[in-house]
Amino acid sequence: MNNLKVTVFAGLSVLLVSSHSVASEPLALQKIMADIGSNMERIVHGIAREDWMLVEQAADKVANHPTPPMTDKVRILSYVGTDMATFKSLDSKTHDSAIVLGQEAAKKDGAKVIAQFADLQNTCLACHQRFRQAFKAHFYGEK
Ligand code: HEC
Repeated sequence: MNNLKVTVFAGLSVLLVSSHSVASEPLALQKIMADIGSNMERIVHGIAREDWMLVEQAADKVANHPTPPMTDKVRILSYVGTDMATFKSLDSKTHDSAIVLGQEAAKKDGAKVIAQFADLQNTCLACHQRFRQAFKAHFYGEK
């Protein structure tokens, strides 16, 4: 091989390797979910201490979690396809439930906060049961 061919070949390899690592990078959704999980823990902490302000703030973070970047949206949409409407509607259920949780916390109504927290957890579970395993298998090759 002459030098030019070597250089072109090396360049192509770098491109191939980097495009591969981009494709297998974890979804930004994973970090968003981990943050939602931490905020749920803050809510539990707040309930135990009747710190309703903390519950309100954490519920707001759950309701208004960041949306994934465009690159994620494209990856998710191209995988989920026609199920995207279901995915989005499950996401709205979590959003709406977290909004109500914040409202109950603002009223300092402990019993209602706890009941609404259970409702919120059920909305998480609904999406996880429907999509999580499939995402793990598709995006990370996990069985
Ligand atoms: C619309 C669907 C959907 C909703 C609603 C949803 N999740 Fe998730 N969640 C997922 C998917 C898909 C994954 C797997 C993402 C991945 O591994 O890339 C996930 C993963 C997670 C993880 C694991 C993150 C990690 O570090 O691997 C946590 C924690 C989590 N979700 C918490 C929650 C909580 C708490 C709620 C409700 C307040 C919730 N999720 C609502 C779809 C959803």
